[in-house]
Amino acid sequence: MSTTSAEKLYGPIAILGGTGSTGMGLALRWARAGETIIIGSRDVERAQETAAQIKARAGGQANISGMENAEACGAAGILMLTVPFEGQVSLLQHLKPAIRSARILIDATVPLATSIGGRASRTLGVWQGSAAQQAAELVPKGVSVAAAFHNVSASLLNGDDPLDCDVIVCSDDPETTQVVCGLAAKIPGVCAIDGGKLENARVLEQITALLIGLNIRHKGHAGIRITGLPPAAYL
Ligand SMILES: NC(=O)c1ccc[n+]([C@@H]2O[C@H](COP(=O)([O-])OP(=O)(O)OC[C@H]3O[C@@H](n4cnc5c(N)ncnc54)[C@H](OP(=O)(O)O)[C@@H]3O)[C@@H](O)[C@H]2O)c1
Repeated sequence: MSTTSAEKLYGPIAILGGTGSTGMGLALRWARAGETIIIGSRDVERAQETAAQIKARAGGQANISGMENAEACGAAGILMLTVPFEGQVSLLQHLKPAIRSARILIDATVPLATSIGGRASRTLGVWQGSAAQQAAELVPKGVSVAAAFHNVSASLLNGDDPLDCDVIVCSDDPETTQVVCGLAAKIPGVCAIDGGKLENARVLEQITALLIGLNIRHKGHAGIRITGLPPAAYL
């Protein structure tokens, strides 16, 4: 699998909900790796302030800007969705007309029970099978959906140290899986693994609830490592 700049192939990466901890952490890591990043937000000022904060940490060469979510979609080839489950459907419905120029949407949404006042260590059932499959129903034709980054700690992403975890990428399109694996592997310490079809996203989403429970119990920032595969399976 290749780690060629995703921007060279598809254009900038817009992170929708990029003002939150997951989006900011991914933006920081990818900006440091040389990707062009657009922070998306419902509020353009918040997006620009967040972009400036990340640029200050990532270094002067970092190519990062802030836009309202719809404008960010129109300017990007890859969309990274990092909003809480309760906002996923309404945001994608609102953004659908703006998403048409994008090629890939990466979904990290976890359907946590907190969305309805429940526990963070429990998930909700999603009719489509997973939040990622729900997203796939809502994007325009021609936009390929991948599920990834559910099992990475946002706290660690926002730090400066290499991570110690794997990122499993699920998608029904092999080219999309390859591109998203390449982006995951740009985060120091991360190995990316092709996790098969998008329907496997339901497992990735469930694992997050377990990791949150482990973090509460043991006071840590848990991630996952998959062992026993041939070296070629790890990017
Ligand atoms: N935290 C983690 O360690 C972690 C790890 C893996 C996956 N995830 C998943 O990644 C997603 C983002 O997590 P997070 O902790 O970064 O979330 P967050 O900080 O609570 O929210 C991220 C951003 O989403 C936007 N947002 C919030 N509510 C929204 C709504 N109803 N509609 C549209 N946009 C809304 C906000 O941006 P604006 O107000 O600027 O628009 C907010 O800054 C979640 O689905 C989470 O389950 C989290």
